[in-house]
Amino acid sequence: MNPYGIMDMKGMVKIMVKYIGVNDRKIDLFEGQFVVPEGISYNSYLILDEKIAIMDTVDIHFKDEFLAKLKDALEGRMPDYLVVDHMEPDHSASIKALVEEYPNIEVIGNQATFKMIHQFFPGFTFKQKLVKEGDVVSLGKHSLKFVFAPMVHWPEVMMSYDAYDECLYSADAFGKFGALDFDDPEGWACEARRYYFGIVGKFGVPVQNLLKKLAGTPLKVIRPLHGPVLDSNLDYYIHLYDIWSKYEPEADAVTICYTSVYGNTKEAAELLASNLTKEYDIFDLARDDFHEAIEGAFENKYLVLATTTYCSDIFPKMLDFLHALKERGYQNRTIAIIENGSWSPQVKKLILEFITLNFKNIVLIPRTVTIRSALTEENRQEIVELAKELNK
Ligand code: FEO
Repeated sequence: MNPYGIMDMKGMVKIMVKYIGVNDRKIDLFEGQFVVPEGISYNSYLILDEKIAIMDTVDIHFKDEFLAKLKDALEGRMPDYLVVDHMEPDHSASIKALVEEYPNIEVIGNQATFKMIHQFFPGFTFKQKLVKEGDVVSLGKHSLKFVFAPMVHWPEVMMSYDAYDECLYSADAFGKFGALDFDDPEGWACEARRYYFGIVGKFGVPVQNLLKKLAGTPLKVIRPLHGPVLDSNLDYYIHLYDIWSKYEPEADAVTICYTSVYGNTKEAAELLASNLTKEYDIFDLARDDFHEAIEGAFENKYLVLATTTYCSDIFPKMLDFLHALKERGYQNRTIAIIENGSWSPQVKKLILEFITLNFKNIVLIPRTVTIRSALTEENRQEIVELAKELNK
């Protein structure tokens, strides 16, 4: 996989796509909430042809680095177009600085794009080129056909398909966490999945609509706005996006999510894990990465929720977790519950009510475990029996 995109020579005209994005290794929380220990990239691409197009910009903190890279890549030529596929500021915040540097550039966007540009940059004037779904802008050999993808992940999102390279500039889709100088030992899918379910997970139907729209389109390269350029084995990535956006589990495996006030519920969760023969992930919702836990809940077929009654309600971290799953359309899974309560355990009932109201197509494992403070021998046996049911 080449993270910097294709650089090629074709025909009599020098034709080249250059990577002009940046790596952000300073950010503490992406979008103010996602931990990104290996940073993130804001990708931008320069298509050099008879006409020159810049594909999106970068986060404002990297404006100067971006403009310097662009100037270098242009080798004295002037850009004709800035294509704005996505207006979220991690890609759009440098638009104004770019246009001020190249005032003759035409900004290509749709109606929703321009509405947002005016919201983010009040009073800003620039040359606009309004496009509709399916419009094509020719650059010479390259051409850009605009494929609207509303809600993947904002309403104005469009993607740009270049028939010459058989390349899709895919906006946030097919992106992942991690800077491009990080060679992820876990491969593409792990941080791409955390990114997808953290950020795009709610929008399964729009992603399905996009995949249907792209079906049959010849595709050799995907250039997303985050993470590496994908230039081989594209069926693998598209298949994962299909599974994720259909809310289907990827693995016949178990995700255990627990909260524990004094360690007893944790002991129950770990006892369950130690009796599983299936693959499993286990998360302490108060201490482990919240978005890894969300990713785990969507990845695996089975979800075990182990928690306590707290102020006559669901323990806060578990309640936050359930709401996060609800926001992302959680469905099509099998769930088991382990509850703890020292004087009036009722969290099992509350979780069941929440699931019934908010999740679709859930199978509940009838065997539940009720702990009253510390585990009894009977509880231990119940947990072993629950593990057997999960192992089937
Ligand atoms: Fe990478 Fe929706 O912004």
